[in-house]
Amino acid sequence: MKIETKCIHSGSVANSITGGINTPIDPSSAFEYLDREETVYPRYFNTLNQKVLVRKISELEGAEDGLVFSSGMAAVSSVLLTFLKSGDHAVLQDEIYGGSHAFVDMFFDRLGISYTFVGNKPEAVEAAIRPETRLVFVESPTNPLLSIMDIAAVARVAREKGCISVADNTFASPILQNPIELGIDIVVHSGTKYLGGHSDLSCGAAVTTAELTSRIRKTALNFGGNLNPLTCYLLERSLKTLAVRVRQQTANAFRIAKFLKNTPRFEKIFYPGLPDHPGHSIAREQMRGFGAMLSFEWFDPDRPVDHFMKKLKLIKPAVSLGGVESMICDPARTSHSKISAQLRAKQGISDNLLRLSVGIEDVDDLMEDIRQASEG
Ligand SMILES: Cc1ncc(COP(=O)(O)O)c(C=O)c1O
Repeated sequence: MKIETKCIHSGSVANSITGGINTPIDPSSAFEYLDREETVYPRYFNTLNQKVLVRKISELEGAEDGLVFSSGMAAVSSVLLTFLKSGDHAVLQDEIYGGSHAFVDMFFDRLGISYTFVGNKPEAVEAAIRPETRLVFVESPTNPLLSIMDIAAVARVAREKGCISVADNTFASPILQNPIELGIDIVVHSGTKYLGGHSDLSCGAAVTTAELTSRIRKTALNFGGNLNPLTCYLLERSLKTLAVRVRQQTANAFRIAKFLKNTPRFEKIFYPGLPDHPGHSIAREQMRGFGAMLSFEWFDPDRPVDHFMKKLKLIKPAVSLGGVESMICDPARTSHSKISAQLRAKQGISDNLLRLSVGIEDVDDLMEDIRQASEG
């Protein structure tokens, strides 16, 4: 099956009682257990709606199995703490999502896990690996600077050194990139973003082999970040339109990136689809489209970023991404406020950096909105 068909059909089950063609929502949190093969319980990640969703996301990512969580951070933290224990070492890309970075900063020292943050090159990952390194964690494109990591090269290095490799595929979505096909062991998502796509739910996913899934499940059921049946159903429904949404968003973003390049008051446009982006050629190889996220610096000595954001009529200043509606935020005050100002400066996240999540509105309307707000 092609990916568009998988979005619609993978995993979904018809209602055998009524003949309804959609997966029924099973709200039970208590299940009969006598003479059953498995004890079903929401926190064991094995209810009908969780399983249906996992099947769909696994097939979209080319994974065998996985778990769906109540947030992206529940997925990230459960994966990290499954494979790392006191005495181990991890190598992580320093441009990973601010929340993932903050989680490492907050917990690894106290758990006795050592770690090294590295730049966006596989050689840097390789150089940081030590005999006690157990896990490598990357993200591509990164939030918010859209840096590109060569995923296949990282996966190769990790495998050669006997480390588990994890890739956060939130920004690309499975429509544009499949890290498992590039050799990565585990893919994590904030499903709150493109998978959900309507800015109305919070969830996460981790998909991988059956064996690694059963190891993650053993940890995760103690943390308790399981997803409820109603949200499972909403996400299953959203995934049916994932391919058409992401394709339209990507086409719009490409036009907007080129438009911003030629519009006064916008500087340093970060978009992997632009030929002068440092990760352009790797993105071209490992992605099936350059995505719908871009960032840029607002440059007007007389007017702060808020002035521009408040003048926008369509694009919403809001803290999330991946929805059908275009959204903008300044990462220094939002997604990356939990990391230090020094680290932001080191990474290149300036106070006038704006991150735009492009929606599926008419692209001319979006460009007109940006034009009028920048001149207003
Ligand atoms: C790339 C990436 N990974 C993980 C997360 C965390 O996801 P959630 O907010 O659903 O916990 C986010 C949230 O913005 C993200 O952008």
